[in-house]
Amino acid sequence: MKTVTVHASVQYDVLIEKGSLARCGALCANVFEPSKATAAVIADDNVAALYLEPVVQSLKQAGFSVCTFVFPHGEDSKSHEVLLHIYDFLIQNNITRSDFLVALGGGVTGDLVGFAAATYLRGIRFVQIPTTFLAAIDSSVGGKTAVNIPAGKNLIGAFHQPSLVVCDPDTFSTLTPEIFADGCAEMIKYAMIWSEEFLQLLESCDIQERLEEIVAYCVDIKRQVVEQDEHDTGIRMILNYGHTLGHAIEKVTNHAVSHGQGVAMGMVLITRLGMKLGRCDAALLHRLCSVLERYHLPFHYDGALSELAESCLHDKKRSGSTIRLILVSTAGKADILPMDTAELETILKGELPC
Ligand SMILES: NC(=O)c1ccc[n+]([C@@H]2O[C@H](COP(=O)([O-])OP(=O)(O)OC[C@H]3O[C@@H](n4cnc5c(N)ncnc54)[C@H](O)[C@@H]3O)[C@@H](O)[C@H]2O)c1
Ligand SMILES: [Zn+2]
Repeated sequence: MKTVTVHASVQYDVLIEKGSLARCGALCANVFEPSKATAAVIADDNVAALYLEPVVQSLKQAGFSVCTFVFPHGEDSKSHEVLLHIYDFLIQNNITRSDFLVALGGGVTGDLVGFAAATYLRGIRFVQIPTTFLAAIDSSVGGKTAVNIPAGKNLIGAFHQPSLVVCDPDTFSTLTPEIFADGCAEMIKYAMIWSEEFLQLLESCDIQERLEEIVAYCVDIKRQVVEQDEHDTGIRMILNYGHTLGHAIEKVTNHAVSHGQGVAMGMVLITRLGMKLGRCDAALLHRLCSVLERYHLPFHYDGALSELAESCLHDKKRSGSTIRLILVSTAGKADILPMDTAELETILKGELPC
């Protein structure tokens, strides 16, 4: 088993091991007292059909009382409606502060259940059991929780760290190749912003054979960033590499482009923009495109860049008329570059090198 310990406002372990799902009860018993705590396990319908039973059995075997709640899969469920149903379910099952929630699933479940945990009874503890590659390496660690509102994604949220993360990479075997690839975009992001050595590994290894090691590598990078800036006022922003333009691409394509695909194209565009500003060279762009291709991710955006500029102006990471761009100057090193939105618009209306 690989263990990454996160020292944030709460200290917790991220446990990564194939087959750990069926042992999650015993792992939770190291953190919570089974005779005193009920585990409220929440999953979407896809994940429940595949993994709810072994999780419930394992928790019961460890001595926990267990109750379950299943909601429809998809981003639309990260809503106030589903959140209210979760609160009702918790009240009906007499869940108190000595109990804990279990978010079993992808990033939608983790964000939604994490936000329920942050707000129910002014905050109770919760465990993340990520089942997508993206949730394992990104959303289950770091304590950002949220729901969406019609005005935008993740606009209502809270920082609330989990008490434990149990990651079983065997669960990725049931993901579609497209959903797995979405996680690969975030994996490549970590290498680009933080570690040339990790990038080299991704350029050469068979990740299916080294999933535990790769997840641990990514989680450890996120740990280092989050420990320095838990509340996202400084260095944590580098995790947005590729995201400002990626979100814009997702938006202008009406989400025909997935998050991972958007981030992949966003990383390429921001690198081309960096080249235009003289902050990186063509060799870096070539390296990025090759590694994206290796993981079946797109790197060419063929829509109009001027349309993206308009969408960037509404980016929630903007402060006043300044937007913070994350640029990678050399593999493994990211910088935050504040830029006036008008300047970004002018650059995107011109030609970018390729
Ligand atoms: N909190 C953070 O720091 C953070 C970071 C990145 C992304 N996010 C959020 O994460 C969400 C995206 O996460 P996601 O891509 O995991 O989406 P998701 O949770 O919707 O999962 C994608 C799909 O895969 C299915 N699924 C999950 N695990 C499965 C498995 N093992 N086998 C088969 N199917 C499975 C789900 O039912 C769903 O249909 C977004 O809402 C995003 O805002 C949060
Ligand atoms: Zn992302």
